[in-house]
Amino acid sequence: MALLNVLCYPDPRLHKVAKPVAQVDARIKKIVADMAETMYEAPGVGLAATQVDIHERIVVIDVSDNQNELMVFINPEIVWSSSEKKSWREGCLSVPEYYDEVERPAQVRVKAIGIDGKEFELEADGLLAVCIQHELDHLQGKVFVEYLSILKRNRISLKMKKRAKELVGQR
Ligand code: NI
Repeated sequence: MALLNVLCYPDPRLHKVAKPVAQVDARIKKIVADMAETMYEAPGVGLAATQVDIHERIVVIDVSDNQNELMVFINPEIVWSSSEKKSWREGCLSVPEYYDEVERPAQVRVKAIGIDGKEFELEADGLLAVCIQHELDHLQGKVFVEYLSILKRNRISLKMKKRAKELVGQR
């Protein structure tokens, strides 16, 4: 396994739209294993392939307290979302050290293919519902800060660019 480099907002590659996975083969399994390792190392509760510059429809999520319940979503699609909405304070490995409120449907039903190549459906609420929607947005090239005002977004872009420069300076 290997740790993957996570792209940081406002990297334009975060806006690429991911393509469907044709087959869950050894290459895809290796990507999933590396993505899981990268997510746990961060640590984070979710990671989309887009964030590691792989533009295929793959998401890993683990919202368990002990970070030992990995969920893999290949070619995920939201097939239903509730009309009830909920606001949640979100963060993202691609927008380090920034958190803000985003309103989304409180419940979703998602259809996807698992690491075993089999299709499954899952209904989610709470943090898992937030996480699924957040990660699926990434596959469409959308970062959560795009739900915020343009003013906030510009401020975040400046902050992230400044942060990247400081990190380069430390090397
Ligand atoms: Ni994210």
